[in-house]
Amino acid sequence: MIIAIDGPAASGKSTTAQGVAQRLGIMYLNTGAMYRAMTLGIVESGLDLEDIDAVQGFIADTVIGFGENNQILLNGNNVSAKVHSSAISDKVSAVSAVPDIRKAMVQVQREIASKNDCVLEGRDIGTVVFPEAKFKFFLVADVAVRAARRMKDLEALGESWSLDELIKDILRRDELDSTRSHSPLVRADDAIPIDTSHLTIDETIEKIVNKITKIKNEETS
Ligand code: DC
Repeated sequence: MIIAIDGPAASGKSTTAQGVAQRLGIMYLNTGAMYRAMTLGIVESGLDLEDIDAVQGFIADTVIGFGENNQILLNGNNVSAKVHSSAISDKVSAVSAVPDIRKAMVQVQREIASKNDCVLEGRDIGTVVFPEAKFKFFLVADVAVRAARRMKDLEALGESWSLDELIKDILRRDELDSTRSHSPLVRADDAIPIDTSHLTIDETIEKIVNKITKIKNEETS
């Protein structure tokens, strides 16, 4: 069973997807964390994204995986604490627009999810990674709500940003993610849209679990 949860930055995907996976007792895969870990590796190695040979060499030498408690691993090292900083958010859209990097990440995602029932969250799960998935959701939320959520997350990391700065940053990332030529952020025709602006995380999880149960019941009746 594959459950695809896509949507723009800070729409509540991660917490929701984790909650849904927990409720159903299945695996959770945060694909954004994979692109963030690749970005961290690229930033740390000072790689020029325009240098195709260097990028291909980097991909060949880099292993992205998951450890205990969904830790994101870059070449076996837990980099979970580093990948959500604004320095990485700033560059991740450019890195995730590189076709060779997407190809490598999608391959890992398919490999992991082919062995496990899984909730995957990202931008292209329902359109590209698992277009045949039976359960697809697309989360959206007002940009001000998303910025407020991001502010809280960054505060927890010790970073202080104004709401206006974060609104600008989220809109910039939305624009880059939805206009790139490879696997842009777009709702799959058959994905169920959910606006989380006025929903708590628990309400969003409940909504998704109920829809999954309903779809399953319709199938068996
Ligand atoms: O969900 P997030 O903000 O952690 O994702 C970080 C970036 O990774 C996001 O700006 C777009 C990219 N991404 C992607 O291109 N495809 C995915 N499946 C997941 C994330």
